[in-house]
Amino acid sequence: MNKISFEDKIENKTLVVGIIGLGYVGLPLSMTYCKKDFKVIGFDNDPKKINSLLNKKNYISDIDDEILSDMLSNKLFLPTNEPKELSSCDVIFICVPTPITKNRVPDISYIKSATQIAVKYSKKGVCIILKSTTFPGTTEDIMVPLFENNYKKIDKDYFLSFSPERIDPGNKIWNSDNTPIVVGGVTKTSGQIAESIIKSVIPKVHKVSSSKIAEMEKLLENIFRSVNIALVNEMAQMCDRIGGIDIWEVINAAATKPFGFMPFRPGPGIGGHCIQVDPYYLSYCARGHDFHSEFIELAAKTNENMPHYVVDELIKFLIKNCKNIYSAKILFFGVAFKTNVSDTRNSPAIKIIELLNRIGFKEIEYVDPFVDKISIGNKVYNNINNYKQKISEFDCCVISTDHTSFDYEFISSNANLIFDTRNVNIESRDNYHLIGSGKL
Ligand SMILES: NC(=O)c1ccc[n+]([C@@H]2O[C@H](COP(=O)([O-])OP(=O)(O)OC[C@H]3O[C@@H](n4cnc5c(N)ncnc54)[C@H](O)[C@@H]3O)[C@@H](O)[C@H]2O)c1
Repeated sequence: MNKISFEDKIENKTLVVGIIGLGYVGLPLSMTYCKKDFKVIGFDNDPKKINSLLNKKNYISDIDDEILSDMLSNKLFLPTNEPKELSSCDVIFICVPTPITKNRVPDISYIKSATQIAVKYSKKGVCIILKSTTFPGTTEDIMVPLFENNYKKIDKDYFLSFSPERIDPGNKIWNSDNTPIVVGGVTKTSGQIAESIIKSVIPKVHKVSSSKIAEMEKLLENIFRSVNIALVNEMAQMCDRIGGIDIWEVINAAATKPFGFMPFRPGPGIGGHCIQVDPYYLSYCARGHDFHSEFIELAAKTNENMPHYVVDELIKFLIKNCKNIYSAKILFFGVAFKTNVSDTRNSPAIKIIELLNRIGFKEIEYVDPFVDKISIGNKVYNNINNYKQKISEFDCCVISTDHTSFDYEFISSNANLIFDTRNVNIESRDNYHLIGSGKL
């Protein structure tokens, strides 16, 4: 295949798209190509996900059940756990996890194993596009040698690019169909081919000069958020220490400036698969070049301290309200890491419950319409659906995730105590505390 044959296949819709990893990134991406009439072969090594898809059961809330079902019925979307099915694909996107270990070291083993699959099962002339967030150099310095070890030459046997994912689960405006996308090839031709493949479904594509620029660009986006969230988290703690200054009012006032300021809000900590994880990919990479990125690590440290801060403040709040902290019954509103999603990965609410358990709190329950069950340590918690009937049994309600379906007016009128980490607009009374409000 060359550039012209890719363009022909895009033009007459015969380009076959392969996706390795059908999670929060890969499944929406599959739908984006299917909706433009491209056949998509989705490979995932988790049999539960493939079975669920084959039974037309959607597991990602942003995906329309009806569209998924249609794409499966008309055989445009073919989920499989057979890697050899990828051999008919003209392009293969790699959308596998890039976590960190407990000691904050990047784990790129999923990228390596997905690349080995692509090396083994792809046809000659395939275009490979890595979408997983990772440190600069992964595509060129780690993936290329895996192809070379199998005597495959770039721009002859395969083309290789990096194109970061920008999906924001729960965002009703920006999704994988309309968010501008960046792409950078390991070689010029690889970049051009990847650009035309992505342009076939996304209106705005910004091509950069190399895969390393694209990898670094994604980390800049996420570190920008991490650093700014850390700044307001630090200022929230400062306001509580000084007293009498509410950080939320301060931020709203600053946000009236029409240029040079962008509002970020404090919270109980950061979670998910991106902001909490990605900064460590860059600081790890920098250390290998004798560069210690203190700024990035400081932001991560500040954000990771927030669940600990919340626990300290919650205990003060309970004591101030004459509650016995060891027997206090606490109800958490939300265990997902952010508003209106089911993702609990690295969720600060879970960290807070874990810390409270460690201290000796025994009476903890949660309500979250998106999460049926969670395991924390060796305990399993089930979502209580009937919080309206049970709310008065709890000494304190903690607003840990600001899902829009919670009835905040009801909570405000019926909870004994409310400890708010998200500022859900509850009228301030004696039984209410908001972090960063400077009131405790
Ligand atoms: N979730 C987000 O909002 C988001 C946003 C931007 C970027 N990203 C990045 O995208 C990447 C994927 O994230 P995600 O949230 O979709 O992860 P995910 O865990 O939801 O999905 C990854 C999928 O890959 C599968 N998988 C793992 N190894 C495999 C292999 N060798 N072969 C086949 N399938 C395999 C898993 O079973 C899983 O279904 C990560 O690098 C993440 O940082 C995620």
